[in-house]
Amino acid sequence: MRAYVIDETTDFSTSVRDVELHALEPSDVLVEVDYSGINFKDAMVSQSKSRVRRRDVLIGGVDAAGVVVASTSERTPPGTRVALHGGALGVARDGGFAEFIYAPPANVSPLPDTISTRDAMVIGTAGFTAMQSILALEDHGLARGARVLVTGATGGVGSQSVTYLAARGYQPVASTGSQHEHAWLRARGAVEVIGRDAIADRPDRVLASEAWDGAIDCVGGDALHQILRSLRYGAAVAASGLVASAELTTSVYPFITRGVALLGIDSVEVGTATRARVWRELGALAHLVDFDALIDHTTSLEALNDALAAVRAGTLRGRVLVDPRQRV
Ligand SMILES: NC(=O)c1ccc[n+]([C@@H]2O[C@H](COP(=O)([O-])OP(=O)(O)OC[C@H]3O[C@@H](n4cnc5c(N)ncnc54)[C@H](OP(=O)(O)O)[C@@H]3O)[C@@H](O)[C@H]2O)c1
Repeated sequence: MRAYVIDETTDFSTSVRDVELHALEPSDVLVEVDYSGINFKDAMVSQSKSRVRRRDVLIGGVDAAGVVVASTSERTPPGTRVALHGGALGVARDGGFAEFIYAPPANVSPLPDTISTRDAMVIGTAGFTAMQSILALEDHGLARGARVLVTGATGGVGSQSVTYLAARGYQPVASTGSQHEHAWLRARGAVEVIGRDAIADRPDRVLASEAWDGAIDCVGGDALHQILRSLRYGAAVAASGLVASAELTTSVYPFITRGVALLGIDSVEVGTATRARVWRELGALAHLVDFDALIDHTTSLEALNDALAAVRAGTLRGRVLVDPRQRV
Protein backbone atom coordinates (compact mmCIF):
# COMPACT_ATOMS: atom_id res chain seq x y z
CA MET A 1 0.00 0.00 0.00
CA ARG A 2 1.07 3.65 -0.46
CA ALA A 3 2.10 5.59 2.62
CA TYR A 4 3.89 8.81 3.63
CA VAL A 5 7.05 7.66 5.39
CA ILE A 6 9.30 9.76 7.62
CA ASP A 7 12.81 8.27 7.67
CA GLU A 8 15.66 9.38 9.91
CA THR A 9 17.85 6.29 9.51
CA THR A 10 20.44 8.03 7.33
CA ASP A 11 19.84 11.53 6.02
CA PHE A 12 16.38 12.73 7.01
CA SER A 13 13.79 12.16 4.29
CA THR A 14 10.05 12.07 3.78
CA SER A 15 8.55 10.24 0.83
CA VAL A 16 5.55 8.35 -0.48
CA ARG A 17 6.51 4.68 -0.63
CA ASP A 18 4.99 1.26 -1.15
CA VAL A 19 5.14 -0.46 2.22
CA GLU A 20 3.91 -3.73 3.74
CA LEU A 21 1.73 -3.32 6.78
CA HIS A 22 1.76 -5.72 9.74
CA ALA A 23 -0.32 -5.91 12.91
CA LEU A 24 1.71 -5.33 16.09
CA GLU A 25 -0.78 -7.24 18.25
CA PRO A 26 -3.36 -9.93 17.31
CA SER A 27 -6.08 -7.60 18.68
CA ASP A 28 -5.14 -4.74 16.31
CA VAL A 29 -8.00 -3.47 14.13
CA LEU A 30 -7.30 -3.14 10.37
CA VAL A 31 -8.96 -0.12 8.75
CA GLU A 32 -9.07 1.02 5.13
CA VAL A 33 -8.40 4.76 5.36
CA ASP A 34 -10.81 7.11 3.58
CA TYR A 35 -9.26 10.30 4.95
CA SER A 36 -6.68 11.57 7.38
CA GLY A 37 -6.10 15.16 8.49
CA ILE A 38 -3.14 17.32 9.47
CA ASN A 39 -2.71 18.25 13.12
CA PHE A 40 -0.09 20.53 14.67
CA LYS A 41 1.52 17.40 16.13
CA ASP A 42 2.04 16.00 12.61
CA ALA A 43 3.99 19.14 11.75
CA MET A 44 6.28 18.46 14.73
CA VAL A 45 6.60 14.70 14.11
CA SER A 46 7.57 15.16 10.45
CA GLN A 47 10.58 17.37 11.19
CA SER A 48 14.17 16.16 11.24
CA LYS A 49 15.30 15.17 14.77
CA SER A 50 11.76 15.62 16.07
CA ARG A 51 11.57 15.30 19.86
CA VAL A 52 7.94 14.25 19.55
CA ARG A 53 8.48 11.30 17.17
CA ARG A 54 9.65 8.12 18.91
CA ARG A 55 10.78 6.02 15.93
CA ASP A 56 13.38 6.59 13.24
CA VAL A 57 11.12 5.25 10.49
CA LEU A 58 7.43 5.93 10.76
CA ILE A 59 4.28 6.38 8.70
CA GLY A 60 3.02 9.80 9.84
CA GLY A 61 -0.52 10.86 10.70
CA VAL A 62 -1.94 10.98 14.24
CA ASP A 63 -5.49 10.34 13.07
CA ALA A 64 -7.53 8.73 10.30
CA ALA A 65 -11.07 7.68 9.46
CA GLY A 66 -12.30 4.80 7.36
CA VAL A 67 -13.99 1.42 7.37
CA VAL A 68 -12.95 -1.61 9.43
CA VAL A 69 -11.60 -4.47 7.30
CA ALA A 70 -10.59 -6.92 10.04
CA SER A 71 -11.25 -6.88 13.77
CA THR A 72 -11.82 -9.16 16.74
CA SER A 73 -13.39 -6.33 18.76
CA GLU A 74 -17.16 -6.52 19.32
CA ARG A 75 -17.31 -2.69 19.29
CA THR A 76 -15.90 -2.43 15.77
CA PRO A 77 -16.79 -5.44 13.57
CA PRO A 78 -15.78 -5.38 9.87
CA GLY A 79 -17.78 -2.76 7.98
CA THR A 80 -17.94 -0.31 10.91
CA ARG A 81 -17.16 3.32 10.04
CA VAL A 82 -14.57 4.52 12.53
CA ALA A 83 -12.22 7.32 13.54
CA LEU A 84 -8.76 6.44 14.84
CA HIS A 85 -6.71 8.79 16.98
CA GLY A 86 -4.50 9.08 20.02
CA GLY A 87 -2.25 6.54 21.69
CA ALA A 88 0.96 5.97 19.78
CA LEU A 89 -0.55 6.50 16.31
CA GLY A 90 1.67 8.61 14.08
CA VAL A 91 4.18 9.13 16.89
CA ALA A 92 5.52 5.75 18.05
CA ARG A 93 3.70 3.46 15.62
CA ASP A 94 2.52 3.81 12.03
CA GLY A 95 -0.21 6.41 11.55
CA GLY A 96 -2.93 7.50 9.18
CA PHE A 97 -1.09 8.99 6.18
CA ALA A 98 -1.62 5.70 4.33
CA GLU A 99 -4.19 3.61 2.50
CA PHE A 100 -4.57 1.21 5.46
CA ILE A 101 -3.78 1.37 9.18
CA TYR A 102 -3.60 -1.11 12.09
CA ALA A 103 -4.59 0.34 15.48
CA PRO A 104 -5.27 -0.96 18.99
CA PRO A 105 -9.03 -1.23 19.75
CA ALA A 106 -8.71 1.52 22.38
CA ASN A 107 -7.79 4.04 19.67
CA VAL A 108 -10.69 3.13 17.37
CA SER A 109 -14.06 4.87 17.84
CA PRO A 110 -17.23 3.94 15.95
CA LEU A 111 -18.69 7.03 14.27
CA PRO A 112 -22.22 8.32 14.87
CA ASP A 113 -24.55 7.82 11.88
CA THR A 114 -24.60 11.60 11.35
CA ILE A 115 -20.84 11.87 10.73
CA SER A 116 -19.25 10.63 7.48
CA THR A 117 -15.64 9.44 7.46
CA ARG A 118 -14.79 12.63 5.55
CA ASP A 119 -16.42 14.87 8.15
CA ALA A 120 -14.73 12.80 10.87
CA MET A 121 -11.38 13.96 9.51
CA VAL A 122 -12.53 17.54 9.14
CA ILE A 123 -13.10 17.12 12.88
CA GLY A 124 -10.00 15.00 13.52
CA THR A 125 -7.95 15.16 16.71
CA ALA A 126 -8.34 18.95 16.68
CA GLY A 127 -12.14 18.91 16.66
CA PHE A 128 -12.26 16.06 19.14
CA THR A 129 -10.10 18.20 21.45
CA ALA A 130 -12.37 21.19 20.90
CA MET A 131 -15.46 19.23 21.96
CA GLN A 132 -13.56 17.63 24.84
CA SER A 133 -12.68 21.16 26.01
CA ILE A 134 -16.30 22.31 25.80
CA LEU A 135 -17.49 19.29 27.78
CA ALA A 136 -14.82 19.92 30.44
CA LEU A 137 -16.04 23.51 30.81
CA GLU A 138 -19.66 22.35 30.99
CA ASP A 139 -18.78 19.75 33.63
CA HIS A 140 -17.22 22.63 35.56
CA GLY A 141 -20.48 24.57 35.39
CA LEU A 142 -20.41 26.65 32.18
CA ALA A 143 -23.96 27.91 31.53
CA ARG A 144 -25.50 28.23 28.04
CA GLY A 145 -25.19 31.76 26.68
CA ALA A 146 -21.80 32.27 28.35
CA ARG A 147 -19.06 34.37 26.70
CA VAL A 148 -16.20 31.99 26.03
CA LEU A 149 -12.81 33.10 24.76
CA VAL A 150 -11.09 30.91 22.14
CA THR A 151 -7.40 31.44 21.32
CA GLY A 152 -5.64 30.33 18.14
CA ALA A 153 -9.08 30.76 16.63
CA THR A 154 -8.30 30.12 12.96
CA GLY A 155 -6.46 26.87 13.76
CA GLY A 156 -7.90 23.36 13.93
CA VAL A 157 -8.75 23.32 17.65
CA GLY A 158 -9.67 27.02 17.69
CA SER A 159 -11.97 27.17 14.66
CA GLN A 160 -13.85 24.09 15.76
CA SER A 161 -14.15 25.40 19.32
CA VAL A 162 -15.75 28.56 17.92
CA THR A 163 -18.03 26.52 15.65
CA TYR A 164 -19.22 24.04 18.29
CA LEU A 165 -19.59 26.66 21.03
CA ALA A 166 -21.85 28.71 18.76
CA ALA A 167 -23.84 25.64 17.72
CA ARG A 168 -24.32 24.74 21.40
CA GLY A 169 -25.70 28.15 22.33
CA TYR A 170 -22.65 29.96 23.70
CA GLN A 171 -21.13 33.28 22.67
CA PRO A 172 -17.61 32.51 21.44
CA VAL A 173 -15.11 35.37 21.30
CA ALA A 174 -12.28 34.53 18.89
CA SER A 175 -8.72 35.65 19.60
CA THR A 176 -6.56 35.55 16.49
CA GLY A 177 -3.37 36.87 14.98
CA SER A 178 -4.89 36.50 11.51
CA GLN A 179 -6.39 39.95 10.91
CA HIS A 180 -7.72 39.02 7.46
CA GLU A 181 -9.82 36.13 8.81
CA HIS A 182 -12.22 38.15 10.99
CA ALA A 183 -15.16 37.70 8.61
CA TRP A 184 -14.48 33.96 8.34
CA LEU A 185 -14.44 33.64 12.14
CA ARG A 186 -17.72 35.56 12.44
CA ALA A 187 -19.21 33.23 9.82
CA ARG A 188 -18.15 30.29 12.05
CA GLY A 189 -20.16 31.83 14.90
CA ALA A 190 -17.80 34.20 16.72
CA VAL A 191 -19.78 37.06 18.31
CA GLU A 192 -16.60 39.13 18.51
CA VAL A 193 -13.06 38.84 17.12
CA ILE A 194 -10.09 40.26 19.04
CA GLY A 195 -6.32 40.34 18.53
CA ARG A 196 -3.87 38.08 20.34
CA ASP A 197 -2.86 40.96 22.63
CA ALA A 198 -6.42 41.96 23.60
CA ILE A 199 -7.22 39.10 25.96
CA ALA A 200 -6.74 41.06 29.21
CA ASP A 201 -6.48 44.69 30.36
CA ARG A 202 -4.59 46.33 33.25
CA PRO A 203 -1.09 45.04 32.42
CA ASP A 204 0.22 46.94 35.47
CA ARG A 205 -1.98 44.93 37.88
CA VAL A 206 -1.78 41.33 39.02
CA LEU A 207 -5.39 40.70 37.97
CA ALA A 208 -7.22 42.08 34.95
CA SER A 209 -10.93 42.90 34.65
CA GLU A 210 -13.18 39.84 34.79
CA ALA A 211 -13.92 39.37 31.09
CA TRP A 212 -14.55 35.69 30.33
CA ASP A 213 -17.10 33.14 31.57
CA GLY A 214 -14.79 30.44 30.25
CA ALA A 215 -11.93 29.94 27.80
CA ILE A 216 -10.48 27.35 25.43
CA ASP A 217 -6.75 27.80 24.93
CA CYS A 218 -4.48 25.89 22.57
CA VAL A 219 -1.76 28.57 22.50
CA GLY A 220 -0.19 28.34 25.98
CA GLY A 221 2.51 30.70 27.26
CA ASP A 222 1.53 34.32 27.82
CA ALA A 223 -1.94 33.81 26.30
CA LEU A 224 -2.78 31.31 29.02
CA HIS A 225 -1.38 33.66 31.67
CA GLN A 226 -3.58 36.50 30.34
CA ILE A 227 -6.63 34.24 30.34
CA LEU A 228 -6.08 33.24 33.96
CA ARG A 229 -5.81 36.94 34.92
CA SER A 230 -9.08 37.80 33.18
CA LEU A 231 -11.47 34.89 33.90
CA ARG A 232 -14.58 35.72 35.90
CA TYR A 233 -14.89 34.52 39.48
CA GLY A 234 -15.23 30.70 39.53
CA ALA A 235 -14.69 30.32 35.77
CA ALA A 236 -12.33 27.85 34.06
CA VAL A 237 -9.98 27.61 31.09
CA ALA A 238 -9.57 24.34 29.19
CA ALA A 239 -5.92 24.20 28.11
CA SER A 240 -4.76 21.81 25.39
CA GLY A 241 -1.90 23.35 23.44
CA LEU A 242 1.43 25.06 23.20
CA VAL A 243 1.72 26.67 19.78
CA ALA A 244 3.20 29.83 21.34
CA SER A 245 5.01 28.28 24.29
CA ALA A 246 5.05 25.30 26.63
CA GLU A 247 6.12 27.58 29.47
CA LEU A 248 3.59 29.12 31.84
CA THR A 249 4.66 31.99 34.07
CA THR A 250 1.77 33.26 36.14
CA SER A 251 0.71 33.94 39.74
CA VAL A 252 -1.54 32.09 42.16
CA TYR A 253 -3.88 35.12 42.55
CA PRO A 254 -6.48 34.01 39.97
CA PHE A 255 -6.74 30.68 41.79
CA ILE A 256 -6.83 31.91 45.38
CA THR A 257 -8.80 35.15 44.99
CA ARG A 258 -11.14 34.32 42.08
CA GLY A 259 -11.37 30.54 42.46
CA VAL A 260 -10.65 30.01 38.76
CA ALA A 261 -9.69 26.57 37.44
CA LEU A 262 -7.12 25.40 34.91
CA LEU A 263 -8.50 22.26 33.26
CA GLY A 264 -5.94 20.12 31.43
CA ILE A 265 -7.20 18.54 28.19
CA ASP A 266 -5.54 15.42 26.83
CA SER A 267 -6.99 13.66 23.81
CA VAL A 268 -4.19 11.13 23.45
CA GLU A 269 -4.60 8.77 26.41
CA VAL A 270 -8.24 9.58 27.15
CA GLY A 271 -10.34 6.46 27.83
CA THR A 272 -13.00 4.85 25.64
CA ALA A 273 -15.91 6.18 27.73
CA THR A 274 -14.86 9.80 27.15
CA ARG A 275 -14.09 9.09 23.49
CA ALA A 276 -17.60 7.70 23.03
CA ARG A 277 -19.10 10.71 24.83
CA VAL A 278 -17.18 13.23 22.71
CA TRP A 279 -18.11 11.53 19.41
CA ARG A 280 -21.73 11.23 20.55
CA GLU A 281 -21.86 14.99 21.28
CA LEU A 282 -20.20 15.76 17.93
CA GLY A 283 -22.76 13.54 16.22
CA ALA A 284 -25.61 15.40 17.92
CA LEU A 285 -24.32 18.74 16.59
CA ALA A 286 -23.44 17.58 13.08
CA HIS A 287 -26.67 18.81 11.46
CA LEU A 288 -25.83 22.37 12.60
CA VAL A 289 -22.24 22.40 11.30
CA ASP A 290 -20.94 23.32 7.84
CA PHE A 291 -17.97 20.94 7.84
CA ASP A 292 -16.84 21.96 4.34
CA ALA A 293 -16.37 25.54 5.56
CA LEU A 294 -13.80 24.27 8.06
CA ILE A 295 -11.54 22.82 5.35
CA ASP A 296 -8.58 24.87 4.15
CA HIS A 297 -7.83 22.37 1.38
CA THR A 298 -7.52 18.66 0.61
CA THR A 299 -4.09 17.24 -0.11
CA SER A 300 -2.59 14.05 -1.54
CA LEU A 301 0.19 12.10 0.18
CA GLU A 302 2.60 13.48 -2.43
CA ALA A 303 1.73 17.09 -1.55
CA LEU A 304 1.86 16.54 2.23
CA ASN A 305 5.23 18.23 2.73
CA ASP A 306 3.89 21.55 1.44
CA ALA A 307 0.80 21.35 3.66
CA LEU A 308 2.87 20.43 6.72
CA ALA A 309 5.16 23.42 6.06
CA ALA A 310 2.10 25.68 5.86
CA VAL A 311 0.87 24.38 9.24
CA ARG A 312 4.29 25.15 10.76
CA ALA A 313 4.14 28.64 9.23
CA GLY A 314 0.61 29.17 10.61
CA THR A 315 -0.70 30.32 7.23
CA LEU A 316 -3.75 28.03 7.02
CA ARG A 317 -7.23 28.33 8.46
CA GLY A 318 -9.24 25.37 9.71
CA ARG A 319 -8.23 21.90 8.62
CA VAL A 320 -6.26 20.17 5.88
CA LEU A 321 -7.86 16.91 4.76
CA VAL A 322 -5.55 14.16 3.52
CA ASP A 323 -6.92 11.84 0.82
CA PRO A 324 -4.54 8.86 0.55
CA ARG A 325 -5.97 7.85 -2.85
CA GLN A 326 -5.74 11.28 -4.45
CA ARG A 327 -2.89 11.47 -6.98
CA VAL A 328 -1.13 14.79 -7.47
N1 LIG B 1 -3.91 18.21 24.35
C1 LIG B 1 -4.30 17.54 23.29
O1 LIG B 1 -4.75 16.39 23.34
C2 LIG B 1 -4.21 18.22 21.95
C3 LIG B 1 -4.97 17.79 20.86
C4 LIG B 1 -4.92 18.53 19.66
C5 LIG B 1 -4.07 19.62 19.57
N2 LIG B 1 -3.32 19.97 20.65
C6 LIG B 1 -2.42 21.11 20.61
O2 LIG B 1 -3.22 22.26 20.35
C7 LIG B 1 -2.45 23.19 19.63
C8 LIG B 1 -3.22 23.63 18.38
O3 LIG B 1 -3.33 22.51 17.50
P1 LIG B 1 -4.01 22.73 16.08
O4 LIG B 1 -4.00 21.42 15.39
O5 LIG B 1 -5.27 23.47 16.24
O6 LIG B 1 -2.92 23.71 15.40
P2 LIG B 1 -3.10 24.71 14.18
O7 LIG B 1 -4.22 24.28 13.30
O8 LIG B 1 -1.76 24.91 13.61
O9 LIG B 1 -3.61 26.08 14.88
C9 LIG B 1 -2.83 26.79 15.76
C10 LIG B 1 -3.28 28.26 15.71
O10 LIG B 1 -2.61 28.97 16.77
C11 LIG B 1 -2.34 30.29 16.36
N3 LIG B 1 -0.89 30.53 16.47
C12 LIG B 1 0.08 30.02 15.70
N4 LIG B 1 1.30 30.42 16.13
C13 LIG B 1 1.07 31.21 17.20
C14 LIG B 1 1.90 31.95 18.09
N5 LIG B 1 3.23 31.93 17.97
N6 LIG B 1 1.33 32.65 19.07
C15 LIG B 1 -0.01 32.67 19.23
N7 LIG B 1 -0.86 32.00 18.42
C16 LIG B 1 -0.32 31.28 17.41
C17 LIG B 1 -2.83 30.43 14.92
O11 LIG B 1 -4.16 30.93 14.97
P3 LIG B 1 -4.48 32.52 14.78
O12 LIG B 1 -3.72 32.97 13.59
O13 LIG B 1 -5.96 32.52 14.60
O14 LIG B 1 -4.04 33.21 16.04
C18 LIG B 1 -2.89 28.98 14.44
O15 LIG B 1 -3.83 28.80 13.42
C19 LIG B 1 -1.11 22.54 19.37
O16 LIG B 1 -0.18 22.91 20.37
C20 LIG B 1 -1.42 21.08 19.49
O17 LIG B 1 -0.28 20.32 19.82
C21 LIG B 1 -3.37 19.29 21.82
